[in-house]
Amino acid sequence: MSRSCVLSLLLVALCSSISNAFIAPVSRLPASISPPAERTALKAIDIVEPSYNLAAGSLGLGLIFGIPGSPLKSRVTAILGGIPLTLFALFLAYQTTTLRFTFDESNFSLVKSSGESTGENVVVGGENVWGYDKFVNYDFFPSQSFPILVYFKETQTPAEYWNIGPGESANSEEALAKGAVPGQVHFFPAIGNSNQLLNGFEKHNCAKIE
Ligand SMILES: *[C@@H]1O[C@H](CO)[C@@H](O)[C@H](O)[C@H]1NC(C)=O
Repeated sequence: MSRSCVLSLLLVALCSSISNAFIAPVSRLPASISPPAERTALKAIDIVEPSYNLAAGSLGLGLIFGIPGSPLKSRVTAILGGIPLTLFALFLAYQTTTLRFTFDESNFSLVKSSGESTGENVVVGGENVWGYDKFVNYDFFPSQSFPILVYFKETQTPAEYWNIGPGESANSEEALAKGAVPGQVHFFPAIGNSNQLLNGFEKHNCAKIE
């Protein structure tokens, strides 16, 4: 895969993780809801192990473009590549440390590493909790063995949000003609073990377009 392709994927990951994974403080949850740790203690939950591969890869690329003595290093590559990629690596490492994907009996969720709710999704509202039966597709980009982005599409989010941002092309007539199923698209940086994510999606029969 070409370097520019990797870079543009990382850029997409950055944009999508900023739009998708920014999290509201838990204190915004209504006081009447019992603490999630208490609720979840009674249920079987698989927590996906964190994966630092993406943060490490981003850091590696950042160093290649930014480190003195590297053949690719110049002021331009440092400013365009080295510095943003290194900052992105720190951002990913932070997310990898503080967030977890989980699978319970009926939902795929993004929670804090403490198990607490991540609050409302800032883009489309609603908790970062999606029922398996609402999935219409999932995938890993560029691939499951070299994951940069975890993608899924669901119909739980109200349809009025589906065409915002990347959803516009994902729900276009052209995409639907090619077999896409309408829904809300989500892209998250691949901050969890992709084998465990795949196993979880398969185990819970999440719909997938082949
Ligand atoms: C799945 O999520 C829904 C909606 O948030 C919730 O009502 C339900 O209890 C959850 N199921 C489990 C097993 O946690």
